[in-house]
Amino acid sequence: TESPHSVEPTRDGEAHRQAVASASARKEDHIRLAADQRREDPAVKGHNEFDDLEFLHHALGGIDNATVDLTAQVGDWTWSAPLYINGMTGGAETAMRVNRALAIAARELNLPMASGSVGIAIDDPATAASFRVIREENPDGFVMANIGAGRPADHGQRAVDLLEANALQLHLNAVQETVMPEGGRDFADWLRGVERTVAATDVPVIVKEVGFGLSRRTLQQLQEVGVQIADVSGLGGTNFARIESARGGNAFAYLGNFGQSAAACLLDAPVAFPTLLASGGVRHPLDAIKALALGARAVGVAGPFLLPALEGTPETLTDEIRSWLDQLRMLHAMLGAATPADLTNTDLLVRGRVREFATLRGID
Ligand code: FNR
Repeated sequence: TESPHSVEPTRDGEAHRQAVASASARKEDHIRLAADQRREDPAVKGHNEFDDLEFLHHALGGIDNATVDLTAQVGDWTWSAPLYINGMTGGAETAMRVNRALAIAARELNLPMASGSVGIAIDDPATAASFRVIREENPDGFVMANIGAGRPADHGQRAVDLLEANALQLHLNAVQETVMPEGGRDFADWLRGVERTVAATDVPVIVKEVGFGLSRRTLQQLQEVGVQIADVSGLGGTNFARIESARGGNAFAYLGNFGQSAAACLLDAPVAFPTLLASGGVRHPLDAIKALALGARAVGVAGPFLLPALEGTPETLTDEIRSWLDQLRMLHAMLGAATPADLTNTDLLVRGRVREFATLRGID
C-alpha cells in the first residue's frame, strides 16, 4: 500500500530518488513484518472471529466428492475455484521474488491473483519489472492490478495497463495510512475518487479494505457510485495497524484490534450488494468455507501464502495452495454442498463476539 504523498517524477531528481528508495524500503518492511506476524503474533495465528462460526454437523448430509463443482461465479467471471491470491507486493527486490512464486502458483492452479499496490511503479518505472513478472509468468491468467483510493483517477488504468489486468483492486486503507509514519492524512475525497476511478477504468473495479473491514454504510456508498464487487477484507489476519505501528515506534499500538472481521462484515453487508468477496484472517480452508457460507462468492488469502512464497520454492507454494483446493472440495462434500453457492444452505451457528456484533447491528 502507498502514501498519496508520493513524490511525482517531475519533481527535483534527488528528492524523487529518495522518495522512491524509501517507498521500496517500506515494501520490504511490509513483507518482513507481515511474515513475522505469521510466525509469532498470536493474534494472527490464533483465535479469530471465524471461530465464532460453527457448522451444525449433519452426519448423513454428505455427498460424493466427485460431484463437487468448485467453479465460482464472481460478477460476470467464472473462476475455477472460490479462492484467489490477494494483493500483497511489488516495488522491491524481495517483492519480485514473492510475485514470481505467487504468479507461478496462480498459473499452475488457474487461480486469480492480485498484485500489491502499483503506485510505486507509477512513481518509478524502474520498479515496474517486479509487477510485470506477474503477467509474464502467467500470460493467460486472471490478474488484478491494485492501487490506492488516494491516487488520481487515471492511475487505476495505468496500473491495469502495466499488468494487462482483468480487473482493478482499489484499496481503502485509512487506518493503515493513519498509523503509517509517512501516510496520507486527508481522506475527505476518497468516495469521489472511487467514483472517478470507476469511470476512468476500462475493467471492473473491485474495492477492498486491507484488513479492517467494510461496513454496511461503506458498501452502500460504494454501490451508489457504481461499484459492483467488494472484498470486505476484515480484521483477524495480517494487521497493518500493528505493522505500521511497529515501523513508527509503536505509538498506535492501541489500534491493534480496530475494525471489523470478515465474518462480521458479511453479516452486516446490505442484502442488495451485487458481489461480495471476503478476506482477512482466513487461516485454512475451513475459514474460507465459512466465508462462502455467509455469502462471499470467493475468498482471498494473502498472509498465509506469504511465508511459503518467501521461504519455499514456487513448487512448494503451488503444492500448499493445491492442498487448500483439495481440502475445499472435500469440505464441500462433507457439508453436502455441490457448489460454493450451495454452502449458503448449510446451518451455520453464530456465537461469541460475532453474535454480539450481529445483535448490536440488529441482524437476526
Ligand atoms: C498486503 N495487503 C495489501 N492490500 C492491498 O490492497 N494493497 C497492497 O499493496 C497490500 N500489501 C500487502 C502486503 C503484504 C505483505 C500483505 C501480507 C498484505 C493486504 C491484503 O490484500 C489483505 O487485505 C490483508 O492482508 C488481509 O488478508 P490476510 O493477510 O489475513 O489473508
